Amino acid sequence: MTFDFGSTPDRRNTASQKWEKYAGRDVIPLWVADMDFTSPEVVQQALHARIDHGVMGYTLPPASLVEAVREYLQSRYAWTIEPDWLVWLPGLVTGLNVACRAVGSSGDEVVTATPVYPPFLTAPIHAGRKLVQVPMTADRNRWQWDLDRLEAVAGARARLLLLCSPHNPVGRVFAREELERLVDWCDRRDVVICSDEIHCDLVLDRDRPHIPTATLSAAARDRTITLMAPSKTFNIPGLGCAFAVIAAPGLRRRFRRAMAGIVPSVNLMGYTAAEAAYRHGWAWHAALLDVLRANRDRVHAAVNIMPGLAAWPVEATYLTWIDARPSGIEQPAAFFEKGGVGLSDGAEFGLPGFARLNFGCAPGLLEKALARMAAALGSKAHSRDVRDGVSPPMDR
Ligand SMILES: Cc1ncc(COP(=O)(O)O)c(C=O)c1O
Repeated sequence: MTFDFGSTPDRRNTASQKWEKYAGRDVIPLWVADMDFTSPEVVQQALHARIDHGVMGYTLPPASLVEAVREYLQSRYAWTIEPDWLVWLPGLVTGLNVACRAVGSSGDEVVTATPVYPPFLTAPIHAGRKLVQVPMTADRNRWQWDLDRLEAVAGARARLLLLCSPHNPVGRVFAREELERLVDWCDRRDVVICSDEIHCDLVLDRDRPHIPTATLSAAARDRTITLMAPSKTFNIPGLGCAFAVIAAPGLRRRFRRAMAGIVPSVNLMGYTAAEAAYRHGWAWHAALLDVLRANRDRVHAAVNIMPGLAAWPVEATYLTWIDARPSGIEQPAAFFEKGGVGLSDGAEFGLPGFARLNFGCAPGLLEKALARMAAALGSKAHSRDVRDGVSPPMDR
C-alpha cells in the first residue's frame, strides 16, 4: 500500500491552531505539535461510517476499543493490562493536571526536568503544588535527567515526578537504565510517577525501543500513572481521545476522584477514530515513520550548517530542539518568524535561547522553511558584518 505524504491539504481557513496563528502572513508554521498530513484513510472511513449512523448520543468507551488498546499495548510493548486499569480522558494535558491534583496535597512538590512541554510547568501550579525544575544535562550530544541535581533540589515534600518519555522537546528515547534510575529514586523517596508517553509510537531510531515506565518492575507499575493517546501517532489530536493506565487501585481511585464532575467524557468521534487507528492504522504509521526519518535527517543536516545553530540527534517525535545561543540571537522564535518561519520559543519550555521546529509536514514545505531560516541568518550575519567590520562565522 502507498500513502501520499508529499502533498498535504491546504489547512488555511480550517481554524487550524497551527495555521491560523499566521493567517494573512507569509509565515510557514512549524510550531504546535500536530502534523500537516491527513489521518489514515482507515480512520477517515470509520468516522464517515459513524456519522452515517446519524445518532450522536452520549457514548461509553466501547468494549471493542478497550480490547484494541489492550492488544496494542501487548503487541507493541509486551505490556499486559487489565481493562479496569484504563481511565479515559479528553486529552493528556487534562491527565497531567488531574495527576497533580490527585497526588499529595497543597504545597507539596512536583518535580520535572526542563526543558519540557509547557503544561508540565503549569499543571503543578494550577493544582496549588510547588514546581521543582531539574535542568537536564547535555552530555555527549544527549540530553539526560540529572540524578544528582534531582537529589539535591527535591525536598522532603516531593510527591510527584512528571516524566515526558519520549521527551518533548529534546527528542530522547530514554534507555532502560535511565528509567530504572529514575524509578529507583522515586521508590526511595516514595514519589508517584506520571509518565507522559504520548510520543511513544513516534520512535525514529530503530535501535532504541520505547519502554513504558510502568513495565520496568512491579514497583514501577504500582507507582506510575501512564498517559497515552493515539493523537500524535495518527495525527488526530483534534478528536480529543486519550487514556491513563493506572494499575494501583488506590492511585486510580484518587485519580478518578480528582476528575469527578470536572473532566468530560471522550466524544464519540474520538473513540471511533482511536479504535480504527489502533486496529488498522499501522501500515500508514510505518510509512509515516519513513517520511519523518527523512525529514528529521534533512533538518539535522541543514540546521547544523547554519551559522550559530546546533541540533542534536532526534531519537523520537517530529520535533527538533535547536540551540540558537551561539548565534547570539536572544529570541530565536521571534527572529525566525520575521524571516517567515514560525517556530516554538524555547523560553516557554523553560530554556530561553532555544527554539523547537516541528518537521511533521510535507518535505517540500520543510525545504522552503529551511531555506528561509538560512536566508534570515545570512542577512543577519551580513548586517553584523557591515556593522562590526568582521567576517560572518561560516560554521559553528
Ligand atoms: C508531551 C506532550 N503531552 C501532551 C500533549 C498534548 O496532549 P493533548 O492534546 O492530548 O492534551 C503534547 C502535545 O504536544 C505533548 O507533546
